[in-house]
Amino acid sequence: MLIFKRYLSHPAQLGFAFDIDGVLIRGAKVLPQGVKMLKLLQEKKCPFILLTNGGGVTEARKAAELSSKFNLPLNPKQIVLSHSPMQRLASKYGDKPVLIVGKDTCREVALSYGFKHVVTTDDIYEWNHTVWPFKNPPSNRRTDLNLENLQIAAIMMFYDSWDWGKDMQIMCDLLRSNQGKLGTLTNEPSKQSNSDFVWSNDYPLTRFAQGAFRISLEAVYKRLTGNQLEYTRFGKPEAETYRYAEDLLDNISDEMWPEHTHVQRTVYAIGDNPASDIKGANDHGWESILVRTGVWDESHGHDHDAKYLVHDVEEAVMLALEKEK
Ligand code: G3P
Ligand code: MG
Repeated sequence: MLIFKRYLSHPAQLGFAFDIDGVLIRGAKVLPQGVKMLKLLQEKKCPFILLTNGGGVTEARKAAELSSKFNLPLNPKQIVLSHSPMQRLASKYGDKPVLIVGKDTCREVALSYGFKHVVTTDDIYEWNHTVWPFKNPPSNRRTDLNLENLQIAAIMMFYDSWDWGKDMQIMCDLLRSNQGKLGTLTNEPSKQSNSDFVWSNDYPLTRFAQGAFRISLEAVYKRLTGNQLEYTRFGKPEAETYRYAEDLLDNISDEMWPEHTHVQRTVYAIGDNPASDIKGANDHGWESILVRTGVWDESHGHDHDAKYLVHDVEEAVMLALEKEK
């Protein structure tokens, strides 16, 4: 069966994983060549996912937001955010109190994943503002919250901290607490974190991301306790994220091509960040393509291990289709 007339024997044998920031968008600006390529793959019924270290919203919200930006329909099942694989942790922590770090919308995300008892650093601050005294106290003290004897079972950093000082203080408090109880000292709850050090928006220089926060947290924690911070990472380039992404690609492909399940698939991962997109793809046995529209540019010399280096996402997709002829 010839679907891509000049190209593949079957589109189900090919998959694409598109990074978002620096590949499909740049800050507020949509890169039109990206939209053109997504449209092409959609027309050809070629499975693709969007694999980003961004987050802070539900997959459904992200899909809706991008659908309207790109003016093309996207399914939440095609979206892998930094915290998406963490939904699998709900089987372990779903019924226990967990601290979710990230912007305020992360509460909704955690609830959508099945974490029933979500506490945020804002909750803690509003419950007792002396936890972080370098801010004007909130106008209303939250009387509906009693966090006194609560045992936080895990700290999950879903997305960039919007208040580094407060979040770092509260995370360090809990990391040193007695079984996750606020205001106590000793044992450690489990910890989850996420990767990117920098990312690119519309500012001319790269911006700090979750990885920068984690490195600071590690240093502060080390200085405080003398110990190395232990944690589990999610997001690119971590293996768990790629296993999750691969499952999504399989599901999408099976839905589109039910008569072609279990096919061998070549996946092309298109990204702008060698440390996350390229490393993750290489480690997972995907074909890695680095673009020059984001974090990486020629001034970095040859410090990347991408299989292919191209200008932008359009060149990347065309190269992949050409290879699969
Ligand atoms: O916060 C977003 C950033 O860390 C990177 O996003 O789409 O380039 O993986 P992306
Ligand atoms: Mg990127």
